[in-house]
Amino acid sequence: MTDTQNGEIGIEEVRVELPGRAYPIRIGAGLLARFGAEVAPYLNRQRLFVVTDRTVAGLHLDTLRNACAAEGISVEALALPPGEATKSWAELQHVVEWLLEMRAERDDIVVALGGGVIGDLTGFAAAIMRRGIGFVQVPTTLLAQVDSSVGGKTAINSPLGKNLVGAFYQPKLVVADTGILDTLPRRDFLAGYGEVMKTGLLGDADFFAWLEANGPALRDGDAAARRHAVRRSCEMKAAIVTRDETEQGDRALLNLGHTFCHALEAATGYSDRLLHGEGVAIGCGLAFEVSQRLGLCPQEDPGRVFAHMAAMGLKAKLSDIAGALPGPDALIDLMRQDKKVRDGAITFILARGIGEAFVARDVDLAPVRAVLVDALATQENA
Ligand code: NAD
Ligand code: GLY
Repeated sequence: MTDTQNGEIGIEEVRVELPGRAYPIRIGAGLLARFGAEVAPYLNRQRLFVVTDRTVAGLHLDTLRNACAAEGISVEALALPPGEATKSWAELQHVVEWLLEMRAERDDIVVALGGGVIGDLTGFAAAIMRRGIGFVQVPTTLLAQVDSSVGGKTAINSPLGKNLVGAFYQPKLVVADTGILDTLPRRDFLAGYGEVMKTGLLGDADFFAWLEANGPALRDGDAAARRHAVRRSCEMKAAIVTRDETEQGDRALLNLGHTFCHALEAATGYSDRLLHGEGVAIGCGLAFEVSQRLGLCPQEDPGRVFAHMAAMGLKAKLSDIAGALPGPDALIDLMRQDKKVRDGAITFILARGIGEAFVARDVDLAPVRAVLVDALATQENA
């Protein structure tokens, strides 16, 4: 993994060094306006296929088109409805058949221009289209820039659960224009920040301390702080994915907060009562509470995590989720549906301190239940 800094326009590069499939993540404000030049080395012919959602298309597709036109590259685009429901069998068929109708060839490139929904769907379509067509990620949400566009997890949802159908399929290039985040609604920005915070909490105490100092400026538009946060998150994810592409070990650390998050997402019907990144942030706080009750991490760590969430204006408590939630036993039952369950045992990512997460199997569920009872009491008292 290497970083370079182009002092002139402030572009940084992180590399995912997977043998035979290494790729760069380009990071910086204004990259979309020079996307044609960025993507040109990857093209076999001067034609690109772009999948996006209608909101992102309205805001950013013309910039991409103009940048490509400047390099003589023509663009065919498909704009889908925004929202999680687009990660469906029906839209997967839609994308694949559109690419076939457009006569996209195996050596062509399909670009995902959007958040995690468009990236996950388009990546999976690229994986199965002619047994694998070239794929480039242009993430437009903070969540997608720091997490979902990197590492090759692609998926759609089944009526039986989230992300249950998919493939590991790496992009050839990721272009993260941090300036694009200026149009992102504040709630989506903060949800993405949940994944940034997770990255510090799982493996880099200094980065978490940097976030405590710089998070509010980053949230309020500081371009250099945004670029640094995206770069550091990508560096850490790239290192983990390079060690463990298909989640046989270390990659599970990226699921810090997710066991709680998945139960809360299921309990709220995958609706906008709780965005994924909001659930991750709350889940990180609860994972630190459990770690502290098990005597694993210092007494003060959960308080520090919750204090940072409050300072950022993130949802931090279960009472911040609108509407009623099921009880502790029902939530633990929902955790049993998690993809990380092995022989019926729920896997948790716990921590020995900030920046020191580890994978914990066979966790005693009594402290987990006790933490949920206390957390749910904040809802009842709200
Ligand atoms: P999203 O793709 O639904 O985007 C959120 C909203 O922001 C959408 O309404 C979208 O239209 C809008 N939007 C996107 N970019 C914008 C911009 N620049 N300006 C204005 N509006 C913009 O949601 P998300 O939070 O990016 O991604 C969530 C998805 O990511 C979930 O399906 C989750 O499962 C998946 N995910 C995947 C991975 C992975 O490793 N593959 C990791 C984490 C999450
Ligand atoms: N977002 C978790 C992973 O990519 O493994």
